[in-house]
Amino acid sequence: APQTSADIIRAARAGGYALAAFNAVNLETAQAIVRAAEATRAPVILQFSQNAARHGGLAQLAALGLSLKSEAGVPILLHFDHAEDEGMALEALNLGFDGVMLEGDDPATLRRLADAANAAGGYFEAEYEVVVKGERSGERHDDPAHLAAFIRDSGCDLLAVDIGSAHKQESKNAHLDFDRLTRLAELTTLPLVLHGASSVPEAELARATGLGIAKVNLATDLTLAFTAAVREALDAGARDPRNYLGAGRDAMQARAETYIRALGGAGRA
Ligand code: G3H
Ligand code: ZN
Repeated sequence: APQTSADIIRAARAGGYALAAFNAVNLETAQAIVRAAEATRAPVILQFSQNAARHGGLAQLAALGLSLKSEAGVPILLHFDHAEDEGMALEALNLGFDGVMLEGDDPATLRRLADAANAAGGYFEAEYEVVVKGERSGERHDDPAHLAAFIRDSGCDLLAVDIGSAHKQESKNAHLDFDRLTRLAELTTLPLVLHGASSVPEAELARATGLGIAKVNLATDLTLAFTAAVREALDAGARDPRNYLGAGRDAMQARAETYIRALGGAGRA
């Protein structure tokens, strides 16, 4: 039987590696991600956030993602990241996204999305704990019964946990709490998701993949690589968007390949 998208992520947890989940915002960033997956023979998650959809249009990004996915030589999962709006998450599923992540913790809302995703043959990622931006203010839950209830009530397939990373950091100053990750991983066999991975040194990301983290969300670091290359090309006098966006695409692809290798995904496709 063909593997479902959820099976591909479960296989990563079982195999002790993680799928890189890279955020794209347009054609060139999406191509960089798919090219990196093909170059490393890795299954990869191509994700668009609700914020990206606000910029580019959900239907347009879905069409882009589906087109790249259908022509890719490796499995590409199309993921709708950080949905804030239930309706938009449902729309993403209707448009053909493989999975969605919805922010928030209302069990009834989460359960509706989980059921909708599963009915569409896809998976649902819920945020057990919020990974903060900058200063730590997120709430952590250390009661095993709380985790069991959340998993049962939300019906989620993937569980985003807070083990010390932070969103949108431009340097790798965060350190993962491996004791806490180990405890969480002992309590559930669900694939665990790390958000804000740009904030974490690559060696720590690699270690986390052996401890239950099976999806690693990366945006900021790849954006920085893309933009630095675009800036350099513009400074060198580039005028044609194909030249400076192409430079950004190449630089982002190279960074993405590095992460795929660090997460153990290379050669798994
Ligand atoms: O959902 C996306 C991410 O969590 C990306 O975080 O921008 O810190 O790499 P990052
Ligand atoms: Zn995130």
